[in-house]
Amino acid sequence: MTDPTPVLRLEGIVKSFPGVRALDGVSFDVRPGEVHALMGENGAGKSTLMKVLGGIHAPNEGKIFIAEEPVVMTSPMQAKAKGVVFIHQELSLADELTVAENIFLGELPLKSFGRVDWAKLYARTDAILKKLNVRFTAKTRVGDLSIANQQMVEIGRALTVSPRAVIFDEPTASLTDAEKVVLFDVIADLQSQGVGIVYISHRMEEVFKITDRISVLRDGQYRGTLITADTDEDEVTKLMIGRSLDLSRNESHHEMGDVALEVRGLSCGTLFQDVDFAVRKGEVLGFYGLVGAGRTEIAETIFGLRNPTAGQIYLNGREVRIHSPIDAVRMGISLVPEDRKGQGLVLSMNCRDNMTLPQVDDMTAGPFVSDGAEIAIFDQYRDKLDIRTPGWRQLVGNLSGGNQQKIVIGKWLSMRPDVLIVDEPTRGIDVGSKSEIHSLIRDLAAQGFAVIVISSEMPEVLHVSDRIVAMYSGKVMREFTSEEVTEDNLIQAISGITEKVA
Ligand SMILES: Nc1ncnc2c1ncn2[C@@H]1O[C@H](COP(=O)(O)OP(=O)(O)OP(=O)(O)O)[C@@H](O)[C@H]1O
Ligand SMILES: [Mg+2]
Repeated sequence: MTDPTPVLRLEGIVKSFPGVRALDGVSFDVRPGEVHALMGENGAGKSTLMKVLGGIHAPNEGKIFIAEEPVVMTSPMQAKAKGVVFIHQELSLADELTVAENIFLGELPLKSFGRVDWAKLYARTDAILKKLNVRFTAKTRVGDLSIANQQMVEIGRALTVSPRAVIFDEPTASLTDAEKVVLFDVIADLQSQGVGIVYISHRMEEVFKITDRISVLRDGQYRGTLITADTDEDEVTKLMIGRSLDLSRNESHHEMGDVALEVRGLSCGTLFQDVDFAVRKGEVLGFYGLVGAGRTEIAETIFGLRNPTAGQIYLNGREVRIHSPIDAVRMGISLVPEDRKGQGLVLSMNCRDNMTLPQVDDMTAGPFVSDGAEIAIFDQYRDKLDIRTPGWRQLVGNLSGGNQQKIVIGKWLSMRPDVLIVDEPTRGIDVGSKSEIHSLIRDLAAQGFAVIVISSEMPEVLHVSDRIVAMYSGKVMREFTSEEVTEDNLIQAISGITEKVA
């Protein structure tokens, strides 16, 4: 059987930035009706390859073919006109505009005299929103939507034309399970129409569920293409990072000290109620539950971003009142938030300054931290977290998505808080660095820090936690030690199947 003509093909693409050869002779193709995964570590060159395809970056060398016709891509608009559309890793929506305006930006339907045909715009948008099964409307302001819903708008943008190929760059990074189901339906639908799909993701389960082939990049070089049905996670991981990974349970145990943080009867309106838990020095306490279970809101309350409606918080045995993040940081509590993009990165500043930027004024060692000390901090966390950048002078905006996340994580870790709360610590992080971050969390605990890890990934909570709090719908259902927890009893607890255990 001869292979069908690919909908798109890249040949020998080279792209250099100052100090980085981001792509080093990469070839790649997508067939009609195929979902082709593009995988590789943070900074491997995935997004850059797709930006070359989309005309955002001009390649130094190499060729692009659409249905075997050579093309020179000069802009995303041109790519779209040729039937290649993108859902980018960084959302590029205009907050002040409505959903409809964002989806049809640059191609608003017009009446004669050049006026926007609003009726047509809303009707077309409604048709797209219906496919996406979302609850917001065409007239909603994008800035009022959750990140997950904004991602759905970004996906909606791709559906305004009949595309030949659609590129998804980490589309599920902030989607809930329900939204993922919709996304996979959209992808299956496109596939059945013969559209070729490029799917960039660090999530192995997804890649194995929906893709036909997997191509791997490493340090800007093409490492090979595997047929999904004939390979396994281990083989893909080895190709990506050159070694296998041990993703077993947490077996390491160390001495624990006194209780560092305790909450009793903590409630915040309808978000969560009557929450009790304690975390000791030297302990990692995992919070597991479905999106919406209230885990992030508990963290935000402890960090002073929300006011509790009832209950107490104790730090080292003393009751405290935390009115703001400034209070929290002063008392030794740090929160690495779930939405790291929105919080705390200045893209136009360099890596070092972003990492050592005092999160809250006057909060760190004072104004006299020397340049040298800052560079040393940066170097230390660059090594620990394997941040890929030519040096501390690089602007954070030029780092790959995953490496930007590592800068934020490094910033909070470098503050060495007594109590560290991390919300979804490895979202958007490649498998190799994921296990580095897990050992870093274990190390922090071993050094006597109290750590709370919120995660939606079961292997992650099982891997890092000494104890696990299972939440369902704003309530703590059960607490497990790492010896008693099983995948089954954990799933039962977070789906509200088991009764609340007092
Ligand atoms: N505009 C730019 N200027 C300088 N360097 C850049 C620029 N864009 C990307 N790079 C560098 O190119 C390399 C590849 O980055 P890219 O964003 O393609 O990685 P990625 O595979 O998408 O990673 P991630 O999984 O973290 O999203 C990185 O070293 C990055 O820092
Ligand atoms: Mg990327």
